[in-house]
Amino acid sequence: MENKKKKLYFITGNTHKFNEIYKVIESENLGYKLEQLDINPIEIQSDNPKDVALFKLKSIKKDLNSSYFIEDAGFFVDYPLNGFPGIYSSYIFKTLGNKGILDLISNFDSTHAHFSSIIALYYEPLDKEFLFEGIIEGKLSPIIKGSNGFGYDPIFLPNKYPEKTFAELKMNEKNKISHRGIAIKKLINFLKEN
Ligand code: IMP
Repeated sequence: MENKKKKLYFITGNTHKFNEIYKVIESENLGYKLEQLDINPIEIQSDNPKDVALFKLKSIKKDLNSSYFIEDAGFFVDYPLNGFPGIYSSYIFKTLGNKGILDLISNFDSTHAHFSSIIALYYEPLDKEFLFEGIIEGKLSPIIKGSNGFGYDPIFLPNKYPEKTFAELKMNEKNKISHRGIAIKKLINFLKEN
């Protein structure tokens, strides 16, 4: 039965992201088997994350004979950093890291941050592209804590669990509320309906 499932490719080099999405999709009993494809789509720099995601998706050749998607996330410290690192999240994580972000906000008592996720899907049966978005709001933890997850997880306190960083949640707890979890649920509903 498993072999009869159609392939759905998630194009990413990030195994953490793949595992999060895999867990949600596998729990849904869809007619799809999720496979990771680590190829490098072309990335453009733009203020509009939807443009970035669509360009990335369209840079992939349609010779996979299946539906496929990419996911682009961003981390935004709305207060006091006016949304930084935002579209530079990946570069800033590599250069400043979590400690660098916490140093920038150390003089502020309150903070507000969010993650966003955009999934761009090429849906082969309709030969069309679709976008699915998710956002989660929260605050910055004054200290780096937790060992699960990846990236900015150890400094993000989601409003739903204000005492715990994403890195202190189990993967299924993070998936239930996260930007990526919300976007993937929208993708799953689309696949069920189409
Ligand atoms: P990407 O371009 O989608 O890979 O993500 C941009 C940056 O945000 C990378 O540095 C990731 O490590 C970080 N990031 C993306 N998603 C998450 C998440 O769910 N938790 C923590 N950091 C994330």
